[in-house]
Amino acid sequence: MTEPETTCKGFEVNHLVKQYANADKPVLDDISFKVEHGSVLVVLGPSGSGKSTLLRTIAGLEPIQGGTISINNQVIDAGKPGTERAGRSDRSSELRTRIGMVFQSYDLFPNKTVLGNITMAPVLVQKRDKSEVEAEAIRLLGRVGLADRKDSWPHELSGGQRQRVAICRALILHPEVLLLDEITAALDPEMVREVLDVVLELAKSGQTMLIVTHEMQFARAIADHIILLDGGRIVEESYDAQAFFEHPQTERAQQFLHTFEFE
Ligand SMILES: Nc1ncnc2c1ncn2[C@@H]1O[C@H](COP(=O)(O)OP(=O)(O)O)[C@@H](O)[C@H]1O
Ligand SMILES: [Mg+2]
Repeated sequence: MTEPETTCKGFEVNHLVKQYANADKPVLDDISFKVEHGSVLVVLGPSGSGKSTLLRTIAGLEPIQGGTISINNQVIDAGKPGTERAGRSDRSSELRTRIGMVFQSYDLFPNKTVLGNITMAPVLVQKRDKSEVEAEAIRLLGRVGLADRKDSWPHELSGGQRQRVAICRALILHPEVLLLDEITAALDPEMVREVLDVVLELAKSGQTMLIVTHEMQFARAIADHIILLDGGRIVEESYDAQAFFEHPQTERAQQFLHTFEFE
């Protein structure tokens, strides 16, 4: 893939600054990148580099203090100094549903069935027709290999199955951008694959995604575009995953990738 044009059909972050209350410096400092519609950005970086904070600000779960976040050239959040303590950004609920997110810990509601978990937000928040939503939920469950589990309770599922339900719960809101934050990090190794296969299939279907992962082979297979974060800044960016993994340009990237190698 080549570098995108200046006007971005897709998703864009410009000069984003995020600082938490009581911190003496920003955790994200002047971050800019574009994600073309239908492409996949993989965000890499060591622990504490700001990856989760980046995804949380994009999801509107944290206000930003500088810069902008846009979809199809429409600004959905702009930085406001003095908002370090606020709980969420002030974007509208309509704009909020345009970005979906799945977290590391499967946060399904324990007192709702699989179907109940997936259909709750579209019925209650988006006021969509219940039978139409249920039919779509069943289609989505089929797509992730869980057609027969719609009436199961979360505690009856494996971690990998719960993450696949969490993906359906995000997809049913038809997000323009899907954010995945280390969604296989808490899974037993044999369940990692079944979840990553679902994500690979989503990428093939053209879902725009930002993915934080420590699965390097998966990152290499799925990324159209990679950024490496360190200390809240982008230290390397590449539109060629193969080249990034084989010939990282910066010493920091070489060092980071080296921590995944065993010889
Ligand atoms: N709610 C918070 N309040 C204050 N500091 C935070 C908060 N969340 C994360 N941080 C700090 O921000 C930095 C980046 O954290 P995080 O985004 O979780 O990194 P990563 O996901 O790359 O491990 C860390 O130094 C972390 O301690
Ligand atoms: Mg994190």
